[in-house]
Amino acid sequence: MSANPSSAKPSSAQPGRHAEIWRESLAARFSQVRTHSVALAAPLSAEDQCVQSMPDASPTKWHLAHTSWFFEAVVLSPHATGYRAFDTCFFHLFNSYYESLGPRHPRPQRGLLTRPSLDEVHAYRTHVDAAMQAFIAGAEAKVWEAAAPLVELGLNHEQQHQELILTDILHMLSCNPLLPAYEAAEAPALRLATASVPLRWIGMAGGLSDMGHSGDGFAFDNETPRHAVLLAPYSIADRLVTCGEFAQFIADGGYERPGLWLSDGWAAVRADNWQAPAYWIAPGDPQAPAGHWQVFGLNGVRPLDPSAPVSQLSFYEAAAYAEWAGARLPTEAEWEAAYAAPGITQMTGHAWQWTRSSYDPYPGFRPLAGAVGEYNGKFMVGQLVLRGGSLATPAGHTRPTYRNFFPPGARWQFSGLRLAKDGSC
Ligand SMILES: [Fe+2]
Repeated sequence: MSANPSSAKPSSAQPGRHAEIWRESLAARFSQVRTHSVALAAPLSAEDQCVQSMPDASPTKWHLAHTSWFFEAVVLSPHATGYRAFDTCFFHLFNSYYESLGPRHPRPQRGLLTRPSLDEVHAYRTHVDAAMQAFIAGAEAKVWEAAAPLVELGLNHEQQHQELILTDILHMLSCNPLLPAYEAAEAPALRLATASVPLRWIGMAGGLSDMGHSGDGFAFDNETPRHAVLLAPYSIADRLVTCGEFAQFIADGGYERPGLWLSDGWAAVRADNWQAPAYWIAPGDPQAPAGHWQVFGLNGVRPLDPSAPVSQLSFYEAAAYAEWAGARLPTEAEWEAAYAAPGITQMTGHAWQWTRSSYDPYPGFRPLAGAVGEYNGKFMVGQLVLRGGSLATPAGHTRPTYRNFFPPGARWQFSGLRLAKDGSC
């Protein structure tokens, strides 16, 4: 994913003064973001942090190292005079997908990296932290002007990996027959919040609407340029679809009726034997015996909360549910235009919301020059856009224009849905 560094710069008639304020602000945020990553890993053992449960998910230890590599490769090596790498082998081990920054260790084999040890990865983080704080404090004005947007990008990048630390560890723990909790059951922070009921439709008049990021403040480059779209009248649900509603879909044979599914979705249902969202535990399942549906989450196995937003859905399941409900998924333009509609709730902080929009470049989009140009643009094929933000997204990380994206079969994220339909009711 990539950023729009120019938009991250402060606008001012006194650029020097604001650059200094920005320097102080970024130094504080750098410390805060880096500390939070380590805190997220704190409940996990060294063994927990080394395992890779599937090619799409990465070990916690790798996330902790890769986010440090990003600062080293994008900020320190090109901009900090005299910077000495902690270990040049790490350039190979912890590069994710940047072709222009050299060869990489294969993604599906990240869990084989028992060395470096977790302690060495923490030492790597400490080394990069010290170098970054010295660089932020002491870089000459011209160097700082070029590098500061990349520091901002690195912080947003690390926040994205903070969410992945949680989604990836949840998948890993779900593979353990003991179904261990990431957190103690009484910890409230990462539970799905209760939704309002019943669902109400909000009518939207449509017409010309602007979408995308503009103005000051950070945004990834895939959110730009801001542009006009023409929307037909539509209606959008005031809240997310709940677990209770999704249980009705299952009880009505939702996973057994090919007419509700897109062709690729039905193929996935058959090939992977999907019968419920990921991490749902059916009544009578011997792994966690109970007479009712349960859900495995970061707090461990808990009874299904019928009013909580449904999560861990693929795009295919979201689209099939919408078909069953006599509705459809919103496009990302409809979602963004409804962001601040009166009465709308749960637009962020609960579950990412699948849209019916392919992850395509906006009109006029151009990737950034250099290595960071590989962040977003090259992934604009074969994926769907999700909007909003989830309970695992770091506070303050997203915006109404934020575009998340995953392949349609991905279901290990905190991804749910909001319904839409044609016509303004
Ligand atoms: Fe990354």
